Amino acid sequence: MDIINTPQEMYAWSRDRAISGKCVGLVPTMGYFHEGHLSLMRRAGTLCDQVVVSLFVNPTQFGPNEDLDRYPRDFERDMDMVRQEKVAAVFAPTPQLMYPQGFQTEIRVKELATYLCGKSRPVHFAGVVTVVTKLLNIVQPEVAVFGEKDFQQLAIIRRLVADLNIPVRIVGHPIVREADGLAMSSRNANLDPANRAAALSLSTALELARAQAARGMRSVAELAPLLERHIHSFAGNVIDYVSFVDCDTLEPMSEINERTVLALAVHVAGKTGQVRLIDNGYLLPR
Ligand code: PAJ
Repeated sequence: MDIINTPQEMYAWSRDRAISGKCVGLVPTMGYFHEGHLSLMRRAGTLCDQVVVSLFVNPTQFGPNEDLDRYPRDFERDMDMVRQEKVAAVFAPTPQLMYPQGFQTEIRVKELATYLCGKSRPVHFAGVVTVVTKLLNIVQPEVAVFGEKDFQQLAIIRRLVADLNIPVRIVGHPIVREADGLAMSSRNANLDPANRAAALSLSTALELARAQAARGMRSVAELAPLLERHIHSFAGNVIDYVSFVDCDTLEPMSEINERTVLALAVHVAGKTGQVRLIDNGYLLPR
């Protein structure tokens, strides 16, 4: 497995693979791998013969009061994990190489970035979209795999690629969960094990909503307060949003149907300060 640090070396690597007729697949990540990341790598391995994993904690997608400094990092641990997978190269640049002196371009997907996480994280998606565009340009993959865990991010990247004619196929991969239902996340490393039930309130809220929907409840005005009460019943939980949105446009819905995705963001009391968790899922069988 090659470890590549500079964009120049990465272009050259990908160009070589393209010349020899290989399909390159990219899995963009910020590291501190868990089974969710590994399952994306395995999925990419079924779609392409050369999997590239990018590992870059992108500073521009963190707001001024967010957890950039607390974001978990362990390069050696990550390399040990990724070496067990069918990964041909890891691209791990420094912030200086990605954002050299004079950098001033930003790409924004306007409307989709105003909903859900965009409300409380106004700079986040411009940072994500800009770095993902850079990564796609540097690695030039035929396929890129993203997790449905970050549902809004996936919708925004699909829009970006369509709007800017970026020649890559975007593949979404289902959420990978712990045995107890918690959606895997690098940020889970900052959770307090004593506060597990509070962290689980997102996935249990999702189950509660699905059970109510299966019993015929369709009104968001009825369902939303039930879920909010459930999440708030755990000490320390602060809701960012409990939203029922259309799966493509992300516009809020007042009646549940097959297109409705329940999206949740909650601040949970962690080991050192609050940890912001997200989760989502369809409410009715599609
Ligand atoms: P990161 O949070 O490291 O996630 C990398 C990829 O793993 C994303 O596509 C994310 O949706 C996916 N992922 C995370 N947890 C998952 C889970 N439990 N199940 C399935 N997939 C999961 O998302 C980012 O990094 C960054 O914003 C990035 C796209 C790399 C741009 O900086």
